[in-house]
Amino acid sequence: MRLDKFVAQSLQLPRSAARTLITKGRVTVDGQVCKKADTALSGSETVVAEGKALTCQQFVYIMLNKPKGVVSASTDRRDRTVVDLLEGAYPRRELFPAGRLDKTSTGFVLLTDDGAFAHAILSPRRHVPKTYRVELDTPVTPAMVTAFAQGVTLADGQAMKPADLIPDPENPLAATVVLHQGVYHQIKRMFGVLDAGVNELHRQAIGGLALDPALAPGQWRPITEEELARLAPGGQNA
Ligand code: URA
Repeated sequence: MRLDKFVAQSLQLPRSAARTLITKGRVTVDGQVCKKADTALSGSETVVAEGKALTCQQFVYIMLNKPKGVVSASTDRRDRTVVDLLEGAYPRRELFPAGRLDKTSTGFVLLTDDGAFAHAILSPRRHVPKTYRVELDTPVTPAMVTAFAQGVTLADGQAMKPADLIPDPENPLAATVVLHQGVYHQIKRMFGVLDAGVNELHRQAIGGLALDPALAPGQWRPITEEELARLAPGGQNA
């Protein structure tokens, strides 16, 4: 990658501002001042700008605990979006939610600017499971568990893939649901066919990565590389 692009991405600056830093001699490559913006980096160099050692992340991956009332979109004319919750922390990135939660649902939303990764974790072929906690307006029954395991057919005739419904032994109205596909309002529609209403819906995990319990509703943090691999093994190369 070119030095000016690397500095711009790492410091979240416009390319022109990165070039100014470089030409003013404020950037070193392996300890030497480098004033040539088009210097090609192999990736193994140590680049220091403004006294900071830089790492260049090609893409950004964020774990967010979505509160109720916030929409899973990048922009919206009426409502606050999950991207608004980042409060401009990544001004030069075009972040979007990889998979949606309804406005009334809460929990794990992954924000990224890596389109291929988002596509991979959402693709039905990859079977990246999504785990939810639900609370219903009626007790969970063995018949519901069987229906989920066999694959519920929605009111419009769409046949859903088998899903796991695991009743909560402590609360007859609550359960864990594991989906292997993502259809609009899927859980609410599946329970709707079984005459149950969903009062609470919270996404707990995507693949093997659980929502960090330290994140209060509305809070977020970057996902580490090791977590990313747990989320969807091989996901970045899919
Ligand atoms: N299924 C739903 O019905 N809503 C969600 O937000 C997620 C899954």
